[in-house]
Amino acid sequence: MAPISIAATDRVFVLTGAGISAESGLPTFRASDGLWAGHRIEDVCTPEALQRNPALVWEFYSARRVSAQQAQPNPAHFALAKLEGRLGDRFFLCTQNVDDLHERAGSRRLVHMHGELAKSRCEADCGRPPVEDHSIYRSLDEVGRCVCGARLRPHIVFFGEIPLAMDRIQQEIDRATLMLVVGTSGSVYPAANFVHWARTHGARTVYVGPEPPLNATAFTRVVEGRAGEALPDLFNVAES
Ligand code: APR
Ligand code: ZN
Repeated sequence: MAPISIAATDRVFVLTGAGISAESGLPTFRASDGLWAGHRIEDVCTPEALQRNPALVWEFYSARRVSAQQAQPNPAHFALAKLEGRLGDRFFLCTQNVDDLHERAGSRRLVHMHGELAKSRCEADCGRPPVEDHSIYRSLDEVGRCVCGARLRPHIVFFGEIPLAMDRIQQEIDRATLMLVVGTSGSVYPAANFVHWARTHGARTVYVGPEPPLNATAFTRVVEGRAGEALPDLFNVAES
């Protein structure tokens, strides 16, 4: 497969989705055996669900913490960390994923626009920042408390809530000359719009995944394949 040439003047923006963690054994969302096959979004991933049945929400996210803690980064995560090492501040990674496999592979210049499994935050929105939290809660009364006394909630962006770090994301998209999108079906906004924003100022846009995403027509190139197999040899980086 023809490599993607990255010139010394290129600035690279990478967006990843659940597909990049698939080869680490973590389920995606919309596959036939995906997370949304086994659970209803409205029962575990909305503010109303948290109000109505916090025990079920914590059961779902505690189970996802278990699988994320047992998973290992795969060659796709390492390939992006290596690319960051080559490009430095000409590289930026935005992930929709809430696992920490990018960090564990060495990525540092990244944001989690949908939150992080390994963090919890105040359910009462008292304004205190999220806290590191790897606990697997077996019942609601085990769930930790915020300094203000309110119960903690998963630091996850639920459907209907505002994604995180959107100012920084917009800024990085505006200056990117190449956008690489890996392993996301393009079903959820605003992430599915990023490729359109990049195209408006003339960036090259490449998708990597085993099947074309819903927004496939917005990509200048589609690399059909699994991320763990395609990414390690995909980049031809010019010496800067
Ligand atoms: N390599 C690359 N891509 C893969 C692989 C793989 N080995 N296996 C599957 N994929 C692709 C699928 O083809 C699909 O396009 O990963 C994509 C997963 O799509 P979704 O399950 O919809 O996951 P994602 O796009 O990340 O969902 C976006 O929706 O539910 C919300 O907040 C949740 O962040 C999530 C958002
Ligand atoms: Zn609080």
